[in-house]
Amino acid sequence: MEYVLFALIAYLLGSIPSALIVGKVGYKIDIREHGSGNLGGTNTFRVLGKKAGIIVTLSDILKGTIAVIIPLLFDAEVNRLIIGIFAVFGHTYPLFAKFKGGKAVATSGGIILGINPLLFIIMIFTFLVSLYISKYVSLSSMITGVVSVIVSLFFQDIGLIIVIFILAAFVFYRHRENIKRIKNGTEPKIKWM
Ligand code: G3P
Repeated sequence: MEYVLFALIAYLLGSIPSALIVGKVGYKIDIREHGSGNLGGTNTFRVLGKKAGIIVTLSDILKGTIAVIIPLLFDAEVNRLIIGIFAVFGHTYPLFAKFKGGKAVATSGGIILGINPLLFIIMIFTFLVSLYISKYVSLSSMITGVVSVIVSLFFQDIGLIIVIFILAAFVFYRHRENIKRIKNGTEPKIKWM
């Protein structure tokens, strides 16, 4: 029963469409009609600029972190990594935005921040170095996924390894269109780094 309750809370938390809210409330813009149409930090940076992009990215990270911290506050005997997956599920298929959400990157990072901060720091470092070199956010997100799986092996926690693998595979799945665009040279590069 505890699993159902905390998974539901995580899903609802993940379902809060930060990019949609910031776009509509702050800029009177539906972000889904602009740029890549994705409800995520990258598209917010692209369409609304740095300030909005940072707010949305941090909010999306926080959704994952809060979802895995809530069970701790209630001393719940649940696997917090599994609960975290539901926050990512909410972020990508949000109840509050017609089930069309983001690409799982920031909220997955937020889960890791709440469970293994060292791994999160390694992920951020990997992402920034990849972004600096490639200028592709999507490619950097996928590279971070692969590196996270490799690094997770060193923590010798089978639950963590499996969940990181599932999240990384899901990030690749959500970036199918980006992979096509990278291949045919139409994926936009960032201009601000
Ligand atoms: O995390 C999302 C990012 O990797 C790609 O977003 O808007 O360029 O498809 P977007």
